[in-house]
Parts: sequence; structure tokens; C-alpha cells
Amino acid sequence: MTKRPLAIATTCALFLGLAACGKSEPAAEGAAHKPVHQHVSAYDGDIARGEKLAATKLPSGQSCVDCHGAGGVKPIDAATPVIGGQYQDYLFHSLQQYRDGKRDHALMTMQIKGAFEAGTLDNQGLADLSAYFAKQDGPLGDMARSK
Ligand code: HEC
Repeated sequence: MTKRPLAIATTCALFLGLAACGKSEPAAEGAAHKPVHQHVSAYDGDIARGEKLAATKLPSGQSCVDCHGAGGVKPIDAATPVIGGQYQDYLFHSLQQYRDGKRDHALMTMQIKGAFEAGTLDNQGLADLSAYFAKQDGPLGDMARSK
């Protein structure tokens, strides 16, 4: 009977030891965690530069906001998507896809390819545009809830 408190104390010490050991695990996991998309962080976007680029005339004679609207949230027609408030990674990835011909659209691909050929845009420019449009208040969050 007298041995029981000692046994409990030993068990507690064991548990405490385990708990203490366990504590280091999430930290180690956190350190090992890598973001799924590293494309944007490879080119940190400059929002102010992105805003200027968004209104810069491309070789087509139009700017991003001429078609996608101010802040990318008021497109000229239903065939032109809202890009304001869209995920930064998504925007950057889409622009890279138009650049590489992995995504093709008669109006949009020529904007990006033409601007690359003319030197109006480069990868940093795509990152800046993505940072700018991602920062805008847009209706995309609401769309997920609409019926
Ligand atoms: C002539 C009009 C026009 C101009 C100028 C234009 N876009 Fe677009 N954009 C479109 C259309 C139309 C689409 C839809 C294309 C498709 O379905 O692939 C589109 C699609 C996009 C998409 C994909 C959006 C999504 O939801 O998948 C992005 C990102 C984008 N544009 C960014 C830009 C940026 C940045 C610029 C300026 C460098 C720009 N656009 C200039 C018309 C335009």
C-alpha cells in the first residue's frame, strides 16, 4: 500500500517526460513544413509597381484594367474574369501558363506573350501584377457562397 504513491509518482514522471518529449515534435514538423506553392515567393511581388503595370498599355494597345476593370473587379464583359481578390499564387500561375502556352486564349495569351516579346513584362512584372490584383477587394469569396 505504501508503495502505491511512489508508483503513481513514477508513472506521472514518465508521462511528464513523454509530454516534454512530445512537445518538440510539432516544432520539428513546423520547421520541415514547406509551402506547396513557392512560385510567388521566388519573385516577391511589389504591389505599387503592380498597380502601375496594371494600367500600362501593352503592345495590344490595351492595359489589364481596360479589360478586367479597375482593381480587376469590374470586367468589361462576362467572358473576362474577375481577377481582383483572387489568390496571388493562382494569378501568378495563370499568367505563367499564358506565357508558356500551357493555357491558351485568343485575347489573353497574346497580351502576355506580346508583352514578354516587347519587354513590357517579365517574370517580376507577373509577380508584381499578381501581388497587386490579389490585394484588391473582390467578389470571389462571395461567389463560393452563391447558389
Ligand atoms: C483584351 C482584354 C484583356 C486584357 C488587355 C487582359 N486580359 Fe486577362 N483575360 C482576358 C480574358 C478574356 C480572359 C479569360 C481567358 C481564358 O478564359 O483563359 C483573361 C484571363 C486572365 C487571367 C486568368 C483568370 C482566371 O480566373 O483564371 C488572368 C490572371 C489575367 N487575365 C490577368 C491579366 C493581366 C495581369 C493583364 C495585364 C497584363 C490582363 N489580364 C490583360 C482579357 C484581357
